[in-house]
Amino acid sequence: MSRPLGLPVVRSSAFAFDTAHDYAEVLGGSVPGYSYSRIDNPTAVAFAEAVAALEAPDAADVGAEPFASGMAAISATLLGHLEAGDEVIAPAACYGGTWSLLTRWLPRWGIRPVLIDVTDAVAVRAAVTARTRMIYAETIANPTLAVSDLPALAQIAHQAGGRLVVDSTFATPVICRPLEYGADLVLHSATKFFGGHADATGGVVIGRSEHLGPVREARIDLGGCLAPDEAFLLHRGLQTVALRVARQSATAAVLADKLVGHPAVARLRYPGLASHPQHGTARALFRDGLFGSLITMDIRAGRLGGMAFCDALRTVAIAPSLGSVHSKVSHAASTTHRQLGDAALAAAGISPGQVRLSVGVEDPEELLADLRQALDAVLDGDVDLLV
Ligand SMILES: Cc1ncc(COP(=O)(O)O)c(C=O)c1O
Repeated sequence: MSRPLGLPVVRSSAFAFDTAHDYAEVLGGSVPGYSYSRIDNPTAVAFAEAVAALEAPDAADVGAEPFASGMAAISATLLGHLEAGDEVIAPAACYGGTWSLLTRWLPRWGIRPVLIDVTDAVAVRAAVTARTRMIYAETIANPTLAVSDLPALAQIAHQAGGRLVVDSTFATPVICRPLEYGADLVLHSATKFFGGHADATGGVVIGRSEHLGPVREARIDLGGCLAPDEAFLLHRGLQTVALRVARQSATAAVLADKLVGHPAVARLRYPGLASHPQHGTARALFRDGLFGSLITMDIRAGRLGGMAFCDALRTVAIAPSLGSVHSKVSHAASTTHRQLGDAALAAAGISPGQVRLSVGVEDPEELLADLRQALDAVLDGDVDLLV
């Protein structure tokens, strides 16, 4: 007997049955099997199961649902669990797409987002009302890199009779496993570290069946299913995620340490630095001394300074997304967080010059040299700040 070591790609949207009875049983859920790939596809299911094994290696009752993107995972989670009249407490500083979903779309369906600083437990407690059904947090926030105190948030959510949902995209289970700290559901943009090579888009939600059930139903009805070819790439990426995250985090720690005092940088945030506001929380919750591979820098000279820094980089790519083997930079206010107006940017702690650096697997010394010369260029005025 032998079996394929690589994951087979089942590129079929429909599955044929021997009898009409068999089809009815599989579709009805009384017998396991595949009928239609929007409902379940073997390659997508294999990817989701592999993620569940990483997030909860010791819990047999934890499963996962695969999605077409991180936003498909987030929208199905919110819509699966919330209804008109409910309130969700969420970070004022979170991924721009999530912020847009919370503030533009949920109110249309009668769901009220309460956006606050979720790292402030006192503020979170004060924001709880009889209508609170969910606390939503990012383990490491995009782009401020604020670290959530997950055990405290879980306690507040559960005392309120609600659930804690955690977007752990920036951390990955290599660094943090939120289910172990009381989260009810964990979700990821698999597009980032899981795929790891900037060549596939996907999402995933992990949790126990009582919490995952409504998410699955929302996925099936809203249609954000993961395609088999994407599932193959994401599953392949998972084989090396621990290696990549360890290397990328180690390089980021070195870069943060070396760049923190540069005169062109008004503020550098990295959870591994003692100066990070939630460094203690990060130390308590993160695994293996890893603090992630994202660094944010508030470049002096505001919006123009931030964009000029990006333009001066030679090897680091100006690109969206993060977590891949390639180092990338993006200027928050003009790209990932363009949905936020000046007031919302300020409330989220996103300065006009803030840039987000996603550190890849390249040679650390070469990366440092490129970043230094770009910061020097901003300082020297070599770059045209008026362009
Ligand atoms: C923290 C976080 N969550 C969710 C998403 C959305 O993921 P996707 O682009 O796969 O829909 C992103 C995208 O950048 C993100 O950074």
